[in-house]
Amino acid sequence: MTTNGKMRFGILGCGVIGPHHARAISGLDDAEVVAVADVVPEQARELAEEYECSWHTSLEDMLARTDLEAVCVCTPSGMHADDAAAVLEAGKHVVIEKPVDVTLEAVDRLRDVQRATGGKVAVVSQHRFDPATLAVHEAVTSGDFGRLTSGSAEVRWWRSQSYYDSGGWRGTWAMDGGGVLINQAIHSIDLLQWLMGPAVEVTAYTGLLAHERIEVEDTAVAVLKFEGGALGAIVATTAAFPGLTARIAVHGDRGSAIIDDDELKYFHAAGEGQEGDVYGAGGGDNQAEEVMERYGVAGSGPGAGADPGSLSMSHRDQIQDFIEAVREDREPSINIEEGRKPLAIIAGIYESARIGKAVRIEK
Ligand SMILES: NC(=O)c1ccc[n+]([C@@H]2O[C@H](COP(=O)([O-])OP(=O)(O)OC[C@H]3O[C@@H](n4cnc5c(N)ncnc54)[C@H](O)[C@@H]3O)[C@@H](O)[C@H]2O)c1
Repeated sequence: MTTNGKMRFGILGCGVIGPHHARAISGLDDAEVVAVADVVPEQARELAEEYECSWHTSLEDMLARTDLEAVCVCTPSGMHADDAAAVLEAGKHVVIEKPVDVTLEAVDRLRDVQRATGGKVAVVSQHRFDPATLAVHEAVTSGDFGRLTSGSAEVRWWRSQSYYDSGGWRGTWAMDGGGVLINQAIHSIDLLQWLMGPAVEVTAYTGLLAHERIEVEDTAVAVLKFEGGALGAIVATTAAFPGLTARIAVHGDRGSAIIDDDELKYFHAAGEGQEGDVYGAGGGDNQAEEVMERYGVAGSGPGAGADPGSLSMSHRDQIQDFIEAVREDREPSINIEEGRKPLAIIAGIYESARIGKAVRIEK
């Protein structure tokens, strides 16, 4: 922390998501962007001009700044663990864009570096901070939905062929780590497991159905078993033209919720003494509005995942949590362990699709 009390951030990778980190940080009272870096000089210079900070063409150069306290790693996914390890070894803290990296082995190596250095690591999963997600999480953890019975995540988006053609790393196993599951649906998979509890087993199919020149899936379906006994389903695609919503549903024997594009669309928790009808269908009394009013949000904007333009706001709360974690010397809410969980499910899905059998999800 500097004399003005602001945490001084650097941003590594000034492509699509790097500028969102810059915007999120500059929207916080106690943080500022002091440096950016990208191997493409124009990318770095352009972002530096906007935030009136220094720019560099390598992480190494940027880390030489002694006043830097934390770095946001916004490079292609397969570089995250190595980049984050270099930041930690330079004695700084790190915010890593999702996924932590593309393999569990890389994540575990990073965890060793984190333990050795003692730096703080936050892994971005910004939708855990959405009011709708927080409301449903509170309901399930306080038992308002009773015993959880099923949950689902559906990501029905569209990415054009030009999207996959636009960046050399997209759609590659080495740098993207997979397709729609690890790049797009990881947010919804993370929310599903955060709300439903740990997933223990998965059976899945994947397909490449509407794109070419990529190594990975653009469509996947999976069925899951959760530790508590509940069952789950994932449908994820970037091949649903023209692109629809991302939806999470959670059901228990005393309540249900549906979040669609980050908005709480349906919520019902049985009150004291409320008995269900013999036959229930159609949802009944939707309590979503009153639940969101408790969170001071009457309806929220369009889905951030569907519209990358609205991402910065969602990142702000997570970066605020990271800053507080550094100041209070506690773990960030989403640390390496938490960031590893959706990745372990995704690794299980790829393995199940490859061998055609159910697989246990690695802890
Ligand atoms: N949280 C979210 O909602 C969200 C949204 C988009 C992307 N992401 C994640 O952010 C990461 C980056 O995605 P993107 O869409 O911004 O990609 P991008 O290709 O647009 O940007 C990556 C940038 O990293 C730079 N780069 C590559 N190698 C570098 C190096 N060695 N040193 C410095 N800079 C280097 C590239 O020049 C490029 O500008 C990915 O891991 C992706 O999964 C997260």
